[in-house]
Amino acid sequence: MGESLNGLKRTIMCGELRESNVGQKCVVMGWVQRKRNLGGLVFVDLRDREGILQVVFGEEINKEAFEKADLVKPEYCIAVEGQLVRRQSPNENLPTGMVELKGESIKILSESETPPIYIKEDLDTDEMVRLKYRYLDLRRPDMQKIFITRHKTAKVVRNFLDENGFLELETPMLTKSTPEGARDYIVPSRNYPGMFYALPQSPQLFKQLLMVSGFDKYFQITKCFRDEDLRANRQPEFTQIDMELSFVDMEDVIELNEKLIQKVFKEVANVDVKLPIQRMPYKEAMNKYGSDKPDLRFGMEINDLSDVVRNCDFKVFKDAVENGGSVRAIKVPNSAGMGRKQIDKLTEFVKTYKAKGLAWIAYKEDEIKSPIAKFLKEEEIQGIIDKINAEVGDLILIVADKDSVVLQSLGALRLEMANKLELLKDNSEFRFVWVTEFPLVSYNEEEERYQAEHHPFTMPMEEDIPYLESDPGRVRAEAYDIVLNGEELGGGSIRIHDTTLQEKMFRVLGFTKESAWERFGFLLDAFKFGPPPHGGLAYGFDRMIMFLAGTENIKDVITFPKNQNAFCPLTEAPNVVDDKQLGELGIEKKINEK
Ligand code: AMO
Ligand code: AMP
Repeated sequence: MGESLNGLKRTIMCGELRESNVGQKCVVMGWVQRKRNLGGLVFVDLRDREGILQVVFGEEINKEAFEKADLVKPEYCIAVEGQLVRRQSPNENLPTGMVELKGESIKILSESETPPIYIKEDLDTDEMVRLKYRYLDLRRPDMQKIFITRHKTAKVVRNFLDENGFLELETPMLTKSTPEGARDYIVPSRNYPGMFYALPQSPQLFKQLLMVSGFDKYFQITKCFRDEDLRANRQPEFTQIDMELSFVDMEDVIELNEKLIQKVFKEVANVDVKLPIQRMPYKEAMNKYGSDKPDLRFGMEINDLSDVVRNCDFKVFKDAVENGGSVRAIKVPNSAGMGRKQIDKLTEFVKTYKAKGLAWIAYKEDEIKSPIAKFLKEEEIQGIIDKINAEVGDLILIVADKDSVVLQSLGALRLEMANKLELLKDNSEFRFVWVTEFPLVSYNEEEERYQAEHHPFTMPMEEDIPYLESDPGRVRAEAYDIVLNGEELGGGSIRIHDTTLQEKMFRVLGFTKESAWERFGFLLDAFKFGPPPHGGLAYGFDRMIMFLAGTENIKDVITFPKNQNAFCPLTEAPNVVDDKQLGELGIEKKINEK
């Protein structure tokens, strides 16, 4: 049962009221956070988007309002009219804590059942319940703060790009598969039974077409869809800040985006980002951090010990080097005393990255402990300690294998150890880095062919073009990722605009002329008509908000997210559709159980 407003107008938001408003007549509207009846007085904490205000009702103030106020329960939606007064016992913890509203009349706009989740900060209720009742979850002040941050960020981005000559243009959602490399979400067509649209994994091809059209600078804050395995920073539908620019090289794109990043972080989170942002070639990132998205908030870099151990008697090390692999290590500070059990756990950990074992050297005050001491000469152990600059208290962790396994497992171990040592707890530090000079292609062992690392339209670096067909693996790309605290915030590249080069690239990727045309014919066609040199970049907007709002879960920054199984507990999507609907699409249901 709800009363209607009957012309009553809100005059101010609950959370806005301060001492300067004392004496004013106000009308506020919102939800009951809690109610206390202290005999002659009823106190209601009233909540709206801007904050919480204490409202007091008393027999002395207005008897009718007092009696009605006593009926309210948590999450009732009410309107109150009254006068703002100074509070006798101020609450320092509340921005409105110096004042309270003396309630002279109250309307119960709607009642509420007891909510299934608490509406309070730092809720630790089961995620399934939170997502099922997401609209209540979103009532929580910390959630509202996140979405206010999201709104603000979009606004700063739009203003910045507008000021820099960008046009905000939309691209289709019902389209053809784009080459970003994940699985597509597909939509059946009624007009063409048996045919399907794909939802875009990104606006990549369309934004390139917009450059051919002469729009010069484009951006869009838009949804992208990728059917991939979900993680803490991945959702099946997510948002990109996508941009493309004509007549630019990599320096232009980077320079503009550094200014954008600086502005966003300053205006939204009051964080100063020093420019220029550090750059690191892919190779260095891999060799030092075992990752193309290095977390530079701490050291513990990977060291190559191959030269020190290449002639040693420990077969595992010797063989690894002899077979073209390597022996590498990280040194972990203050960990020489780590117990056997814990080290065994680390060994299990690196095995999940295909390492065959984990050798270690504990450099203690009075002794050096190591399971491989028996295989190595004293000067070889000393050689390792010197090479890695170990100090008393360090634990050296070593993996020997082919390079890809060594780097991947040590890179992951480095992060694992940083977590264990609690080096990553400070989330006020923002370490940006541009990772550049990515390999253009990588070899897919299963399919026995090269595949594009970014996408097939990425420009090779000028000096490497001569090797494009003779040795594709060594060719680097005009591609760049912006990495923040070990996460890929965004990425982009300069594109190929020359048809001959593009055809060469397709040959390298094993496309026949026909198969390339079948997939990307419309783009290749367009490139016959004077395409400008162009390049661009896309940020994961949700990931950006995660940093700005200080949360590690991407679901926190999306109003109605999917769970880890790409399911929406609120709407229960995906779900069945009836046979009639399928019939119209010319589709018959036959589910392969597996
Ligand atoms: P890319 O595939 O690197 O580039 O995507 C750009 C950025 O989007 C974010 N991102 C995601 N965020 C949440 N959930 C996901 N499933 C997800 N997948 C990607 C990442 C990533 O850096 N068209 C190119 C850009 C270009 O070349 O201009 C592209 O889409 O933060
Ligand atoms: P083993 O002689 O097999 O017991 O190995 C001695 C030590 O070397 C153990 O601590 C193993 O974990 C470690 N080890 C085995 N294989 C490797 C490898 N590929 N890289 C690094 N350490 C290894």
